[in-house]
Amino acid sequence: MAEAAKALVTRRPRKRPAWRALEAHYKKVRELHLRHMFADDAQRGERLTVEATGLFLDYSKNRITDETIELLVQLAEQSGLRDRIDATFRGDKINVTENRAVLHIALRAPRDASILVDGHNVVPDVHAVLDKMADFCNRVRNGEWKGFTGKRIRNVINIGIGGSDLGPVMAYEALRHYSERSMTFRFVSNVDATDFAEAVHDLDPAETLFIVSSKTFTTLETMANAHTAREWSVKGFGGDENSVSKHFVAVSTNAKEVAKFGIDTANMFEFWDWVGGRYSMDSAIGLSTMLAIGPDNFRAMLDGFHQMDEHFRSAPFERNLPVLMGLLGVWYADFFEAETVAVLPYDQYLKRFPAYLQQLTMESNGKHVTLDGKEVTYQTGPIYWGEPGTNGQHSFYQLIHQGTKLIPCDFIAFTETLNPLGRHHDMLIANVFAQAEALAFGKTAEQVKAEGTPDWLVPHRVFEGNRPSNMILAERLTPETLGKLVALYEHSVFTQGAIWKIDSFDQWGVELGKVLAQRIIPELESAEEPPLNHDSSTNNLIRRYRKASHG
Ligand code: F6P
Repeated sequence: MAEAAKALVTRRPRKRPAWRALEAHYKKVRELHLRHMFADDAQRGERLTVEATGLFLDYSKNRITDETIELLVQLAEQSGLRDRIDATFRGDKINVTENRAVLHIALRAPRDASILVDGHNVVPDVHAVLDKMADFCNRVRNGEWKGFTGKRIRNVINIGIGGSDLGPVMAYEALRHYSERSMTFRFVSNVDATDFAEAVHDLDPAETLFIVSSKTFTTLETMANAHTAREWSVKGFGGDENSVSKHFVAVSTNAKEVAKFGIDTANMFEFWDWVGGRYSMDSAIGLSTMLAIGPDNFRAMLDGFHQMDEHFRSAPFERNLPVLMGLLGVWYADFFEAETVAVLPYDQYLKRFPAYLQQLTMESNGKHVTLDGKEVTYQTGPIYWGEPGTNGQHSFYQLIHQGTKLIPCDFIAFTETLNPLGRHHDMLIANVFAQAEALAFGKTAEQVKAEGTPDWLVPHRVFEGNRPSNMILAERLTPETLGKLVALYEHSVFTQGAIWKIDSFDQWGVELGKVLAQRIIPELESAEEPPLNHDSSTNNLIRRYRKASHG
């Protein structure tokens, strides 16, 4: 990088010329209404679109002008985004607080690629695990892998939490259409015993396989559930511990802990510390996904991820889907001060996609200091939330249309349905298009009056409009499309992290609560009244619980 460019990158984000220019530019743009921007530019709806890897993004209904995009792209350049992308793909240790490379892109690299971590090409390792997974999945799916009593495996339960759960659940739901319908897939994450109890209540241990998924294999919730599962399973075989090898497999980076738990490491599927938990659904953490949809579909999903990786790496920023979406997110978070982003998939199969994105976006970019440990002076990661359409329309959309908060929306829809029944799909798509239109253009008092609305009711029925949204359209929800969609958001999060100069790949914010819980557990369980040294509220709550549960 040239010296001048380097100097800009080292500046604090708000001191970069493009950020300053955006501040001035924002003052003009905030006064503009989408209604007028569209009226003044007949081509806007066609011009402000990008299509890549089969995903079409219409970003014309955003509160932007051509100049906004130019400035945002300059901001990306002045933030060193290009270098950050190259450093990541090179295997540099860009996760500075954990001194780790960030290489989920290696999980979907083709066999002949070479990606080095500390001089070692990790791509053959990735494919060796994928081959082992495929072999295992084929044997379970065709009945060759039998349970301890010789019965076929009909039920698969993934035990994991966070990235070891949300990706597998989301992918299973999203790709259910492609799943082996003769098998049952369930997911246990919560340390609340209800999760486990409900998952197994109608299952036969002889037909049930548990996948214990945990990067560290030390996570409290997962280990508690794994031990409970083991007791439940072994009890089903009259206490015979030899059954474990037929009913438990592990996915982890920690072979030592896996062996300690009693799972033969031959039945362990490995991944590596350069895969972040929330970026791991395409690693061995996707074992339940592969069992459900089969190895070929899983590889098609990886190919979708890879296509988006290549697009992200090579497309110019102004035509780059993840970069554009990331920059628009920065525009709303830091200039309009929007606190949240709603993700609204118009596809029932994507019902867990917003929940999945919550960890991806918020664990990644919910940070308050820069890479060099300085307090940020701007907003970082917004709150992501959402529900599939059209359900949300009859619930929270009211606030998006007429409330006092600005909520940028990402709509996701498919031109073809996987379940063509009557007119359902046309009605679904009409709704998603209508929502984006209503949000952008609203309804003026004149229009409301012209409908004969009495004067007193007019303000209630006015839609201000000027509510921004992206529309992401694809042909069909396939494994490949899902891979592209997830990678789109992964790289959009990355883009934002680069602008905000934060470490998007650590998650220290989850530590404190974990440590405090470990201290409180024995205080709840001890037979003797324990000395309590918390604040008066926590002490009181502990005493109250003890009284209720110890009688
Ligand atoms: O909650 C923090 C976290 O470390 C997540 O980042 C991770 O996905 C989750 O816990 C589960 O961790 P593990 O896979 O090690 O059990």
